Amino acid sequence: MRDVAVIGVGCTTFGEKWSTAFRHLFIEAGALALEDAGVQGEQVDALYVGNMSAGRFVEQEHIGALIADYAGLATTHIASTRVEAACASGGLAFRQAVIAVASGMEDIVVAAGVEKMTDVGTGASVEALAGAADREWEGFVGATFPGLYAMMAVDYMHRYPLSREDLAQVAVKNHSNGAKNPIAQFQQEITIDTVLRSSLVADPLRLFDCSPITDGAAAVVLAPLERVHEFTGTPVKVLATAQASDSIALHDRRDISTLDATVAAANRAFSKAHLTPREIDLVEVHDCFTIAEIIAIEDLGFCRKGEGGRLTREGETALGGRIPVNTSGGLKACGHPVGATGIKQVWEVVTQLRGEAGARQVDSAEIGMTHNVGGTGATVAVHILGVT
Ligand code: COA
Repeated sequence: MRDVAVIGVGCTTFGEKWSTAFRHLFIEAGALALEDAGVQGEQVDALYVGNMSAGRFVEQEHIGALIADYAGLATTHIASTRVEAACASGGLAFRQAVIAVASGMEDIVVAAGVEKMTDVGTGASVEALAGAADREWEGFVGATFPGLYAMMAVDYMHRYPLSREDLAQVAVKNHSNGAKNPIAQFQQEITIDTVLRSSLVADPLRLFDCSPITDGAAAVVLAPLERVHEFTGTPVKVLATAQASDSIALHDRRDISTLDATVAAANRAFSKAHLTPREIDLVEVHDCFTIAEIIAIEDLGFCRKGEGGRLTREGETALGGRIPVNTSGGLKACGHPVGATGIKQVWEVVTQLRGEAGARQVDSAEIGMTHNVGGTGATVAVHILGVT
C-alpha cells in the first residue's frame, strides 16, 4: 500500500443557498480544491462523490455522471462514482478515494460531498432524512432523527451524570467556533439560555440542540505521498482511514448510549496509525444533535464513559482546551449538508494542520481526527491526518 496525502481542499459557504444549483455547489467546491492543489481537471483520474439523497431533495439521481459532466470531465471519460451511506456519505467517499490511491489503482483522485436540502420544506427534508433509519421499524411509526437522538439522550441522562445545561454547553461552544468560521451557516455566539429557551423539538432536545438543514459542498484532492512535490498544495498525510457498521435500528443495539461502530472504527484507526487519543490535537465529531457530541467524545476514547458532560463543562473540548472538538462549528453551527459533512470535516482538519484556520486556529496542531456517522450509528467513518 502507498502512503496517501491530501494536497488540496475546497468548501462552499454553508447555508440556505437558494440561487445556487445542486451541480454548481459541487463545481464551486471542486474548483477551489483543484486550485488549492495546483491540479488541472484533466489530471484527475477518478472522482468519488458523497451524496445521501439528491433524488428526494432535488429529484436528481445519477450523481456521479452529472458531476463529471458539469466538472468538464465527461469528455475525458473520468471514472466517477456516487457513494451513499446517509450522513456518512462524505466520510465513505473520502475512504474510497484513499483506498484507490493507496492501492495504486489511481493516482490523482477527488473526494467530494454535496447536498442541497432546502429546496424542499422542513417536513419533506425530515422525511427524506428518516430514510437513513430503519424504514419499517422506525420511520413508518413516526420516529424522526430528532426523536431517535432524543431517546438516546433520555437513556444517557438516566444512566450518567449529564445535565440539560451540559448539553446546551455543546451548542454554545460550537456556535462560538462557528462564529470564527467564514463558511459556517450560523456565525453568531449563543448562551446556555438561548438553548434552554428555544422551542422544544423532541424532549429533551430543543431547536439549538439540533443541526440545521443545509445546502453546501466540499471537495479534497488526494495524491500518492511520493508525488506531492509535483503540486503546489501544502500536503497533509492520511495516517489512517477506518469504517464500521452496526444494526440500523436503535432497538437492536447492545446499548443506545454508546455507538459501538464508533468504538470499532476508532480502535481500527488508532491501531493503523499507531496512535492513542492523547496524541490527537483536534477532532471533528458528528454532532448532529448535542447528545451525539457527548457520546462521540467518549466512544472515540477522549474520556471515560459518563465523563463527556464534565469534559465539556470544564472547557476541555473548547478552543484552547485539552482536546478541541468541532473547531469548524461542527454540524450544529457550521451546518449539515448531509452528503458533504464528512468531507467538510477533512477540509477543517487539513486547514488546521496547515495553520490556516485564522481565529479558530489550534496552536501547534499536528494530528487531527474526523468522525462521521450515518443514521444513528449504523455506519461510522473515522480518519486520522497528520502534518508531513
Ligand atoms: N439551530 C439553530 N437555529 C435554527 C436551526 C438549528 N438547528 N434550524 C433552524 N434554525 C433557525 C432558522 O435560521 C430560523 O431562524 P429565523 O426565523 O431567524 O430565520 C428559525 O430557526 C426557523 O427555521 P426553520 O427552518 O423554520 O426551522 P424548522 O422548525 O423548520 O426546523 C428543525 C428546525 C430542528 C426541525 C430542523 O432544523 C431539523 O430537522 N434539524 C435536524 C436535521 C437532521 O435530522 N439532520 C440529520 C441528523 S442525523
